[in-house]
Amino acid sequence: MREYLLPKEGFRVLFVIGKGGVGKTTTSASIAVGLAERGYKTMIVSLDPAHNLGDVLMEKLNDKPKKIMDNLYASELDMEKLIKAYLKHLEKNLKNMYRYLTVINLEKYFEVLSYSPGIEEYATLEAIREILVKGEDWDVIVFDTPPTGLTLRVLALPKISLIWADKLIDIRRKILQRRRVIAKINGEQEYDIDGEKFKLPKEEAEDPVMKELIQYKEEVEFVENVITNPSKSSVVAVMNPEMLPLYETRRAYESLKKFNVPLRLLVVNKVIQLKEDIPELRVKLEAQRKVLEEIGNEFHGIDVITLPMFAEEPRGVEWLKRLGGMILEGERGS
Ligand SMILES: Nc1ncnc2c1ncn2[C@@H]1O[C@H](COP(=O)(O)OP(=O)(O)O)[C@@H](O)[C@H]1O
Ligand SMILES: [Mg+2]
Repeated sequence: MREYLLPKEGFRVLFVIGKGGVGKTTTSASIAVGLAERGYKTMIVSLDPAHNLGDVLMEKLNDKPKKIMDNLYASELDMEKLIKAYLKHLEKNLKNMYRYLTVINLEKYFEVLSYSPGIEEYATLEAIREILVKGEDWDVIVFDTPPTGLTLRVLALPKISLIWADKLIDIRRKILQRRRVIAKINGEQEYDIDGEKFKLPKEEAEDPVMKELIQYKEEVEFVENVITNPSKSSVVAVMNPEMLPLYETRRAYESLKKFNVPLRLLVVNKVIQLKEDIPELRVKLEAQRKVLEEIGNEFHGIDVITLPMFAEEPRGVEWLKRLGGMILEGERGS
């Protein structure tokens, strides 16, 4: 058994990443079905806006976990709904904290923000966080992710956000300090907003902005601690035995290293295996052989497994059990 796919400290989180079409959903569903079959309470969640988890499991899915078999639940998140909910949450917070800034037209601002770059990444991270907060309900949580670029940006986000949060907390601390100095010189200022008396907060403990910043930092730290903990999280990269997926996997490997997110398994899917020689496929097979050789030479410390190209599309629980067995217990390939 590949024990880095099994729960160790509490629950295990698996991120299955890779280019579009390489077999991420097939691989993640196979791992999930295989784990459920072995008695682990498993949830599989598709974060890919172009969902196909339902197609692979041959079940109709939505954003609520649906029971697929004993120990296995599956859902497909609704990214548009999540982005809307994320923006609503931001809007509520901002309106609450900056009641006195009536000059800013927040409605207009949020309309634009929903198209802003980065919003999808933040909403995805927030969705992951909400699932991880309830992680103890499960033995294993498998994330079937969007194509590599977006996923890597999401996994990098906690580290970047923590740097930002620290900086903002620092600035806020200075603002509060200056307010205290000004209050000492000028006396306490009172403002009138819509007939309500309002004083600017001066102490950290009474400042809603500071409270929000500290809460945000704690939330991000929680996610960061889970995704960089090798006894909790593992990344499974899926690729096909071709040059371009190899280049992409190489880049993903480097990025994940930088962000301390542990890549543990490389699944080389759709490997062509012929019983007899087919001249038309010789060039293709030679290219495949080269890629497999390259893989053997790099990705040190990472487990590699190859899965054959099947004559039919592996769909439905029976197929996935078979593939799950190959991934969970199969020998090291290449
Ligand atoms: N080993 C395999 N042999 C044959 N077909 C496969 C194999 N793995 C995946 N497929 C098929 O390839 C297509 C893409 O797989 P999928 O898991 O949906 O990829 P992704 O989620 O990365 O886009 C699907 O039609 C799937 O059934
Ligand atoms: Mg998919």
